[in-house]
Amino acid sequence: MKTFENKVAVITGAGSGMGKYLAINLAKAGSSVAICDVNKDTLKETEDILRNYNVPSSSYVIDVSDKEEINFLAEKVIEKYGRVDLVFNNAGVAAPSSFVEMSEKDWNWCNDINYSAVINSSRAFLPHLLKNKESALINTSSIYGIITTPNNTVYHASKFAVRGFTESLMKEMHDTPVQVHCVYPGHIGTNIVSNARFNEEGEGILGIDGKPAKDREGNLLTASQIGETFREGGMDPDHAAKIILKGVKKDKKRIFVGLDAKLMETAQRIAPQHYLKIIPFILFLTLPFYIKRIMRANKARKNLSAK
Ligand SMILES: NC(=O)c1ccc[n+]([C@@H]2O[C@H](COP(=O)([O-])OP(=O)(O)OC[C@H]3O[C@@H](n4cnc5c(N)ncnc54)[C@H](O)[C@@H]3O)[C@@H](O)[C@H]2O)c1
Repeated sequence: MKTFENKVAVITGAGSGMGKYLAINLAKAGSSVAICDVNKDTLKETEDILRNYNVPSSSYVIDVSDKEEINFLAEKVIEKYGRVDLVFNNAGVAAPSSFVEMSEKDWNWCNDINYSAVINSSRAFLPHLLKNKESALINTSSIYGIITTPNNTVYHASKFAVRGFTESLMKEMHDTPVQVHCVYPGHIGTNIVSNARFNEEGEGILGIDGKPAKDREGNLLTASQIGETFREGGMDPDHAAKIILKGVKKDKKRIFVGLDAKLMETAQRIAPQHYLKIIPFILFLTLPFYIKRIMRANKARKNLSAK
């Protein structure tokens, strides 16, 4: 796809993070944008920003985990624009917890949003995408759809599933006008951790080393502290959205967002059993790129402990 001008794009989870900036950057590039989110307040914020661009836009408060609401979205988009050219299945959540302590309710919540919604949306929109001369379906997995860490089973399971589904569909759609992409972001500074469902019972929130996450003074970190430092320490979501859109333009099937994602994928290939041991070393080599972000995260942490 050479240009986004005069295209119709649907973006799920557009109230925050990468979805918000996908919508803004597509509008800047001349696309009509149909945005949706379960959070009506943040969706409204994105909607207000989109008004600054001279393109048609519309927004829908929907819960993507509900198949009927996805079908409603597809109907409304076709009714308003007559067609759809790009669908970004971006909405996602996290529910970090040890597997044995995790409720089935939280498991289903995360899996239904991260995985089932991608299937239902692909099913609803593909017949329309197939009618065009060129169109794109962009599903967001994660670098955690390639490597695994402890205490994050449902996130990994759902993101591995998105990857498997999308990469198979990619091959199936090879001779059609639909280009299918799978997105693998690394650490992007968004609200995903602030919006996560943590299991805060027991010894505190567990880090990827399997131990309770603590600050330098040894105090247990709260969910909001973890969310804040995650947001401050990651790549700017606007930059991430630009990388995704560039990947779509270049028809890159696997879109890695961030050097950390690329290095973790390489580590997984070099050492399929032991990548968790070499990842900290590889990430250390990239330190110069991360110093600014680390300083930002430290500042946020200090501000929090001062509160
Ligand atoms: N931030 C990262 O480091 C990172 C890394 C890898 C993958 N991802 C993936 O990127 C995608 C975007 O996440 P983000 O980091 O921008 O997070 P974010 O929390 O900033 O944005 C996600 C948006 O999805 C919306 N959403 C949640 N549940 C929904 C539902 N049921 N129906 C409709 N909308 C819903 C949220 O309200 C939010 O606006 C997700 O699929 C996430 O798993 C993020």
